[in-house]
Amino acid sequence: MAPSKKAGKKGAAATPKKGGAAGKVAKADWKEGFKKKQVGVSDMTLLTTITNESINENLEKRWKNGEIYTYIGAVLISVNPFRDLGIYTDEVLPRYKGKNRLEVPPHVFAIAESAYYNMNAYHENQCVIISGESGAGKTEAAKRIMQYIAAVSGGQDNSIQEIKDMVLATNPLLESFGCAKTLRNNNSSRHGKYLEIMFNDHGEPIGAQITNYLLEKGRVVGQVENERNFHIFYQFTKAASDAQREAFGLQTPEAYAYTSMSNCLDVPGIDDAQDFSETINAMQVIGLSDYEQNEIFRMLAVILWLGNVQYAEKDDGNAEIADTSVTDFVGYLLEVDPALVQKALTIRTMETQRGGRRGSVYDVPLNPAQATSGRDALAKAIYNNLFEWIVSRINASMKPRQTTSQLIGILDIFGFEIFEDNSFEQLCINYVNEKLQQIFIELTLKTEQEEYVREQIKWTPIKYFNNKIVCDLIEERRPPGIFAALNDACATAHADPTAADNSFIQRTASLASNPHFEARGAQFLVKHYAGDVMYNVAGMTDKNKDLLVKDLLDLIGTSGNQFLQGLFPDRPDPNSKKRPPTASDRIKVSAGALVENLMRAQPSYIRTIKPNQNRSSTEYDTKAVLHQVKYLGLQENIRVRRAGFAYRNTFEKMVERFYLLSPATSYAGEYIWQGDAKSGCERILTDTGIAREEWQMGVTKAFIKNPETLFALETMRDRYWHNMAGRIQRAWRNYMRYKHECARRIQRFWKNNKESIEYAKIRDYGHQILAGRKERRRFSLLGYRRFMGDYLDINGKSALGEELIEACDLGRDKVTFSSRGQLLVSKLGRSSKPSPRFLVLTEKALYIAVTNAKDGQTFTTLERKINLVTIKSISMSNLRDDWLVLNLGPTEEGDPIISCVFKTELVTHMLKLTQGSINVVIGPIIDYNKKKEKKAQIKFIKDETVPRNDTYKSHTVHVPSGEPPNSQSYPMPKRKEGVVRPITQGKLLRKGGPSDKKPTASRPKPASQPLPGKSAVTPAVKPPAATSSTTASAAPRAPPPPPRGPVAPPPPPPEPDVDLYKAKYAFEGQEGEMTLKKDDIVELVEKDDNGWWLVKKDGVEGWAPHNYLELVPPKPKAAAPPPPPPPPPAAKRPTPAPPAAAAAAPKTGLQSVSADPSAKPVAVFPGMAAANGSAAPWKKTASAASSSNDITPAHSRPGSAAAPKPPPLAAKPKPAPPPPVASKPTVGAKPPVPSAPRPGGAAPKPKVGGVQKPGPVGGQLDLAAALAKRAQQIAHDQ
Ligand SMILES: Nc1ncnc2c1ncn2[C@@H]1O[C@H](COP(=O)(O)OP(=O)(O)OP(=O)(O)O)[C@@H](O)[C@H]1O
Ligand SMILES: [Mg+2]
Repeated sequence: MAPSKKAGKKGAAATPKKGGAAGKVAKADWKEGFKKKQVGVSDMTLLTTITNESINENLEKRWKNGEIYTYIGAVLISVNPFRDLGIYTDEVLPRYKGKNRLEVPPHVFAIAESAYYNMNAYHENQCVIISGESGAGKTEAAKRIMQYIAAVSGGQDNSIQEIKDMVLATNPLLESFGCAKTLRNNNSSRHGKYLEIMFNDHGEPIGAQITNYLLEKGRVVGQVENERNFHIFYQFTKAASDAQREAFGLQTPEAYAYTSMSNCLDVPGIDDAQDFSETINAMQVIGLSDYEQNEIFRMLAVILWLGNVQYAEKDDGNAEIADTSVTDFVGYLLEVDPALVQKALTIRTMETQRGGRRGSVYDVPLNPAQATSGRDALAKAIYNNLFEWIVSRINASMKPRQTTSQLIGILDIFGFEIFEDNSFEQLCINYVNEKLQQIFIELTLKTEQEEYVREQIKWTPIKYFNNKIVCDLIEERRPPGIFAALNDACATAHADPTAADNSFIQRTASLASNPHFEARGAQFLVKHYAGDVMYNVAGMTDKNKDLLVKDLLDLIGTSGNQFLQGLFPDRPDPNSKKRPPTASDRIKVSAGALVENLMRAQPSYIRTIKPNQNRSSTEYDTKAVLHQVKYLGLQENIRVRRAGFAYRNTFEKMVERFYLLSPATSYAGEYIWQGDAKSGCERILTDTGIAREEWQMGVTKAFIKNPETLFALETMRDRYWHNMAGRIQRAWRNYMRYKHECARRIQRFWKNNKESIEYAKIRDYGHQILAGRKERRRFSLLGYRRFMGDYLDINGKSALGEELIEACDLGRDKVTFSSRGQLLVSKLGRSSKPSPRFLVLTEKALYIAVTNAKDGQTFTTLERKINLVTIKSISMSNLRDDWLVLNLGPTEEGDPIISCVFKTELVTHMLKLTQGSINVVIGPIIDYNKKKEKKAQIKFIKDETVPRNDTYKSHTVHVPSGEPPNSQSYPMPKRKEGVVRPITQGKLLRKGGPSDKKPTASRPKPASQPLPGKSAVTPAVKPPAATSSTTASAAPRAPPPPPRGPVAPPPPPPEPDVDLYKAKYAFEGQEGEMTLKKDDIVELVEKDDNGWWLVKKDGVEGWAPHNYLELVPPKPKAAAPPPPPPPPPAAKRPTPAPPAAAAAAPKTGLQSVSADPSAKPVAVFPGMAAANGSAAPWKKTASAASSSNDITPAHSRPGSAAAPKPPPLAAKPKPAPPPPVASKPTVGAKPPVPSAPRPGGAAPKPKVGGVQKPGPVGGQLDLAAALAKRAQQIAHDQ
């Protein structure tokens, strides 16, 4: 009696209005909340007083209110309504699907659901035992269960649908052949039936089998007044086809003795013709061939015609056939010689026996009574065997098509019967009912209580009547019970039925010691659990013997009809000493087998009650119901149920079902508990936080007090899967986010380095040009050093740039290199001196420009333009000085002698532009043309006393030692440890993403264990018993906690409080980014400290620049202070920790050249975005990137592609850091131009003229600024 059912989802199905348009969805009605109030209590364990009367009262109240179902725990009580309540419709049925019985009103569907669910969930066979007296509604209940199971068990497969159809078709077929109208029930089952539906492990029906019990074959040859023969005879005689009528000489039912003698041909409410077509249809569904159907009807015709064989009494008292045309026709139907039919029906062959040996054989004519009984015996035998053949034929059709995992059995057996004349049939029927009551007592009362004792559960025994004594009275061998006495009587007086009956009466005397038996002459009384029944002995032994006489069997043996032969497969061997089994033997064996079968399955009970004997839908016969309530033992049932435990199961089964609910027993769906099943079970129940008084541990089983507790466990189990699905989804999303972020970083890194690599390539070319011939400045070798060319940002149209373009008349020529430098200027009569100049290199020429002051104004003018083709060679010293000479050959002005910190770069660009056609001469002395043909030299001398750079005086340059000539650039400095920004903050991915540095040592996956009772998964797994529960519980493992919290099932993770942000500006997002309209509200998903935040709008996630967003202040709480206004974007950025080089930048100008943090090409490493919160570098527009494939690649620092107003995505270059390289010439006391702020800064003096004063020391941009400017320029150009 497992009441277990999972808690299903609450279906909000509105009660459909009757007569509503089909297919229309009924509108939900608020009145649903006011559901019809249940009358009485729906579970009688809740009755305040437990008496038979109070039970009856409750049932009556409910029945009168149209509520025919009531529970006692898991036992369903059903009171026959005798009217259609409309409670088995297709609308009602789904309401029970997936629901536990407490969620929905009591119903036979709930029992079916419970059995089906338990079978699937616990992998246990189930059976539904339906008991009650005749007409109480057993067959109806059985059919509803089949209806429900067929409806809910899945399987679109043809063969599964076929099985379902067949199972349902067995009902009309077996009802036609096995049910009849009786005084008690218009559709009384005259046989018992146990239907087992087999399922595969998906819970789909794959086969079925019917076991038939004791057909009441006596009904074939005679019925009590106003009862009928089996339905099929009326169906057949009323509705047979003309062909059948022709073939079998078929008449209407009144023409046949067997169908008309009881004077009941029609039954109100039964349409035989309609039923006949259903029967034929069922035969088709089951797969009976036309031949088989034809032969079945032939047998029916044989029986009907046999019944019409009349005997006349001859003068000698012997019988003779009154009308041989009938026997002739029977012979024709049986395909035997008609003469043999006559003989077999009138004469019995006797054989004398002498001393156990066979003697002579002679014919004994029968008197009419004997002949009639022989005729009836033949008819009964044919029908009985035909019925059994049909059942086995059905079984053959429903043979399981796959391996059977589990089954559900449905037992619908004839109800307890008390007639005026009770004979052997009633004894058998009532005996089987006694056996069923035994099972009920065994399982619900006796075993239950015994189990509590055995399992050492605290228990106060409850008294009940155990009907075992009645079972013993009927079936016991020693001392012999009623069946044994009958068998003995049959054995001793086998020839004469009356003598045998008398012998039996004598034997019953010995039974009188049983208090449930009373011998009363030719009758005897048995006090059954359901009432006292007086049985008539007459004919009992003969019925028990149940043997067709040899003559009749021989007659069948001569038949040419194979079908008939097949109905009598094994004829008893007349020589056998062994007594053939009697009817009581057979019923005893099959009842025993049935009990055994049922005991192996988990039973559900339906106890049907008949409210009156008149099939009235209004009459409630209190006395009759009280009687049933008493004998069904409902009162005891309630008492035991109240005191007991609603559910119990072995520790192994419990663990198997619920191990997922404890982190100690499961990990990632695997069973990991190393202790035994009991300790595991206890751990689960403890961990789930179920109240301690709700469960008890027995010796082999765990007991759960209330079904609600079990349902709660089931709900938790359901939630487990739900939560796991959520986890997997979260992990997947996390992984996808991680993957995208990685991709972005790779792209960003590549984009940035693509340019950086280009610059570095030029630098490396510079190394090649020097070819280890010249000492190097230390800062030239820095890893960050790149040859970026346009240091004056002429291409970027800086103010100075514009000025130089104009001065040099560059037009649209692209500048490859620009820098400040110094030119050695010879003054007449005085020694030459370096003087500041601007050096601008285009594809064609090197321009040397100079700024001069005149009349308080400054003018930049082109001093000299040197076409690259005119340069014959370039000379440089072998020391680390900055001097170079362009050897032009004899010229008016002489060879220019230039000092420039970027001289190597200048040379490199010139060589690149001339395809290396210029020779680079390096040596300790530089030869040059002074003017025209005049040659001169500059000497270079190492002088460590020179503080910085070098000094020129009188053709001699003094310079301290530099780095060795063969020096290479230092490697790119490693980024500081610990700056790596974790790729994900999520719980499921390790900080910084998966890494091979720290293998997954922190969370070892616990070894999975075989479930108790199952074989081990791997040989390596320790047997569960090997470790004690204490060690197991202390096992150092930390599996993820599936259900959180001790009591409630783990709730799905709560939705975190999300911060809402408003878009301050519109933003046009690209792939992976969030396009924003001004004032859009978005949810913050993740803050990335690179300045980009992951936000969610309308369920879609994307990245957006954080400085475009402003926090929507949370809704004001009662006394909460007003939220602080969102800080301005700039203020939001805490002084970012600049990457290593950035920190160093302001200290010295030189350092800032090579290691400026915002010099994008070098700053980008995975996880290291612009520290100032500038836009992610991959923000650069595609066209900007594509336009950067010239020799001086465009910078990747993006300009804001967004609306003009919003803050730039990229950080602006910092204003005027300390001047970089050579910002202040060290040679010469006074800079050539006065120190002034950069263009755009506050000018100390009013500007005169069109040309702005060039930037002095700060005029030359540092690397990063140059790049940033250029990027902005590109963006602006677009
Ligand atoms: N739930 C029900 N709703 C409506 N009518 C019912 C219901 N149950 C039974 N009946 C009516 O009662 C009649 C008898 O029911 P049923 O044949 O199931 O009895 P039974 O217990 O199988 O009796 P028997 O032991 O004689 O076979 C049915 O034919 C039907 O008319
Ligand atoms: Mg029935």
